[in-house]
Amino acid sequence: MANENKPIHGIWGSRWVFILAAAGSAVGLGNIWKFPYMTGANGGAAFVMMYLLCIVAVGVPIMVAEVMLGRRGGMSPVNSMFKLARDNGVNSRWAGVGALGALSGFLLLSFYTVIGGWTLFYVWEMVSGALVHASAVEVQGAFEGMMANPWLVLGGHTAFMAMTMFVVGFGVIRGIERAVRILMPLLFALLAVLFGYALTSDGFADAFRYMFAFDIAKISGASVLAAVGHSFFTLSIGLGAIMAYGAYMPREVVTRSGQRKPVSIGSTVLAVAALDTLVALVAGMIIFPIVFANGLAPGEGPGLLFVTLPLAFAEMPLGMLFGTLFFVLVVCAAWTSSISIAEPPVAWLVEKGFSRPKAAILVGLLAWTLGIGSALSFNVLADYTLFGKTFFGLMDFLTINIMLPVGGLLIAIFAGWIMKETQARKELAMKSFGLYMVWRAMVRVFAPLALILVFAFSLWQALA
Ligand code: PFF
Ligand code: NA
Repeated sequence: MANENKPIHGIWGSRWVFILAAAGSAVGLGNIWKFPYMTGANGGAAFVMMYLLCIVAVGVPIMVAEVMLGRRGGMSPVNSMFKLARDNGVNSRWAGVGALGALSGFLLLSFYTVIGGWTLFYVWEMVSGALVHASAVEVQGAFEGMMANPWLVLGGHTAFMAMTMFVVGFGVIRGIERAVRILMPLLFALLAVLFGYALTSDGFADAFRYMFAFDIAKISGASVLAAVGHSFFTLSIGLGAIMAYGAYMPREVVTRSGQRKPVSIGSTVLAVAALDTLVALVAGMIIFPIVFANGLAPGEGPGLLFVTLPLAFAEMPLGMLFGTLFFVLVVCAAWTSSISIAEPPVAWLVEKGFSRPKAAILVGLLAWTLGIGSALSFNVLADYTLFGKTFFGLMDFLTINIMLPVGGLLIAIFAGWIMKETQARKELAMKSFGLYMVWRAMVRVFAPLALILVFAFSLWQALA
């Protein structure tokens, strides 16, 4: 039996479709918007090194664990964890890992679509040619003007949420699989074109040095915490999105010559993580040359993508075309990610008896409502802060720096300590025993220890 207990939500057409869907989830605003500005805000290469280390040592092993739990469970994260807890003879409260994930996904979705809305607005800015030949001051003004306009930000948030739920409402195969089959190749083609352009630009050497000339003195506790949080965010782990996608992953595929071939989780996850990392680095190498060639500051913050790039597009030949392509790329990337963030709560409601479209509309409406707070925190509510953070800032910190790492920690503990070893080994079916042992040591000891240390350290820093 290839796929015993076939998941009710459907199953990806092939291993390749899983890679497209999971890469679609992973590659998003985290790579193209956040990674470059975090690198800028945390001292360049020092942050890049920490980030790469976190991806390899903590992110990948936990991603393998998350996909493995998903494929074993075959359902939405809440019910997969419930089933796994029962099968392994532990308290059904472990289902809480799935519930915590669905909750963090719900919170994350509420503001992810707000930023998604900005990217939609920028497609319009580019197509309309509004910024052609604009000066630095004008481009800055356009960004601030957009954020200051509550209706514009709310409109973008609404449109992006609708786009997301439209796809999720069609289901795993007719919605998500169809969307990623079109959007992901488009995304990689656009990225290649823009990277080609960056290679020939004046600032490329400076940008390369900035990203890769490592200086240990620049590492701080805050930037380590940021790197850990970001490695979870960028790989889409810790909230069940990848667990849900793993549940739809086939155990075997039939090759063209009619042979049955097992689908290995380890190598598949490696492919996804490599794609995600590659896109982040390439995005940095597209954006920083423009920053340096124009004498701008890399530590600009969240505006980096929305201010520096349009400025470059304003001047370059065919800038309108490249600018439009670039923001279409960002929209595609963000869209395939928001879809995956919405999947765990929607799948859970479907298991409770809702129809797909109804479940999607319900989750969408609730997340949209909560997202109003984030949308307005750039304008009307900008002065309302707690611990120096706006509503958006709080949601961002709570989900990405706290909830995702906690979710990841619990996933690692379950996969490494709770789940029967025979089960884990069978599901992973790794060819190399040595690699399996490395993975096991990572999820049992190294990843949890690293996460706990980082937490303790940042708590200590916050209190000191
Ligand atoms: N990985 C996505 C990004 O880099 O933008 C964000 C994300 C998607 C986080 C899905 C978490 C998730 F479950
Ligand atoms: Na990412």
